Amino acid sequence: MGRGSLPVLAAGPPLQLQRSWTIAMLRVERLTKIFENSTDQIAGGIREAEFELAPGTFFTMLGPSGCGKTTTLRCIAGLETPDAGVISVDGRALFDGERKLNVPVEQRAVGMVFQSYAIWPHMTVAENVAFPLTVMKHRRYSKAEIGAAVAKALAVVDLDGFEERPAPRLSGGQQQRVALARAIVHEPRLLLLDEPLSNLDAQLRDEMRSELKRLQSKIGITTVYVTHDQSEALALSDQIAVIDHGRIRQLGTPEDIYFRPANPFVARFVGATNLLAGRLVGAANGRGDVEVLGRHTIKCLVPSVIADPASVSVSIRPESIRLVPRAGAASPSGDNRIPGKIAGVTFLGATRRVDVASDGVTLQVTAAADHPLPADGEVDLLFAPERTVALPGKVS
Ligand SMILES: Nc1ncnc2c1ncn2[C@@H]1O[C@H](COP(=O)(O)OP(=O)(O)OP(=O)(O)O)[C@@H](O)[C@H]1O
Ligand SMILES: [Mg+2]
Repeated sequence: MGRGSLPVLAAGPPLQLQRSWTIAMLRVERLTKIFENSTDQIAGGIREAEFELAPGTFFTMLGPSGCGKTTTLRCIAGLETPDAGVISVDGRALFDGERKLNVPVEQRAVGMVFQSYAIWPHMTVAENVAFPLTVMKHRRYSKAEIGAAVAKALAVVDLDGFEERPAPRLSGGQQQRVALARAIVHEPRLLLLDEPLSNLDAQLRDEMRSELKRLQSKIGITTVYVTHDQSEALALSDQIAVIDHGRIRQLGTPEDIYFRPANPFVARFVGATNLLAGRLVGAANGRGDVEVLGRHTIKCLVPSVIADPASVSVSIRPESIRLVPRAGAASPSGDNRIPGKIAGVTFLGATRRVDVASDGVTLQVTAAADHPLPADGEVDLLFAPERTVALPGKVS
């Protein structure tokens, strides 16, 4: 459906710079936008995305390249017309496929930093930041109003006094902050950030990550953030949606996603993990027993619905496993215990990565650099049932 075919819904009175920040609720229902002409095997885009963000939420869409993150963000911004679904802010529809409502981008009150956050090199910092105000069709701002708004936005990103600096004479991190100031100068209800740190080197990215979190909590703005970097997502977010091939595969807090992944895709995409194929022997109240490696029954969490008990994967994080000298079968602490033999050790500084072979499978274990390892390599792997998760589907 082309953009022109939907009548435009007026979004109400234009925003006033004087008003205080509004902290908005964002609701996305059955959002679908598919590019049939995409060159991928499966037509690209986003399918049936659903989420609701409480005011002030820092929400991250995390997923591999081409999974549909930017498409979703562009639909929220109004830069892309969805095929179907509803997008609403504070209960007012910005887009509704069935009711044929589509509020134009300039009336959506969103601030956006794009994937390649160009700031204009021929302009000063102030001109860059003021730009969204100078192109607004429905309201003309006086010079004084623009000056005040620019100063306020620059103060939020700690660039007070940088107004007259030419854009090329800024560091990467400062340019990033100018892009953020430009996104918030009109006091939007939503902040949409598409991989805003991807242009920065690793150290600066770390610094800007903390900065961004601080800024977001300072102004409390509801934020939709896009990244394919899992550590960024875990560090910043209140809620994360993990997306694969246009579908949300799991929605939850960083702890949910990391410790209670819903499927093998999420377990593998977020953090390193060991996945063992297994068979569900029994489950009740979110816990159960799974037979792995053909002969060991281990206790684990069973947070997801498992349709086929014969086709199960068990996820155990490398740092959740402890290596101890070989002993009897049972563990007094109630931890799972399976035997193995050390197949390789890699020194990583603070930790060592230990590869342990067990019944033809190699498991990765993260051990402290000074953790004693037996000379003959015969060990038991100990891991708590709370850190062992059964997932639907067998690992390939
Ligand atoms: N205008 C378009 N025409 C055709 N296909 C498109 C268009 N825009 C996006 N796609 C396809 O839709 C899919 C999702 O693209 P999108 O840009 O949303 O991915 P992404 O998750 O942001 O990826 P990245 O991490 O690489 O930025 C891709 O397969 C892409 O090729
Ligand atoms: Mg993208």
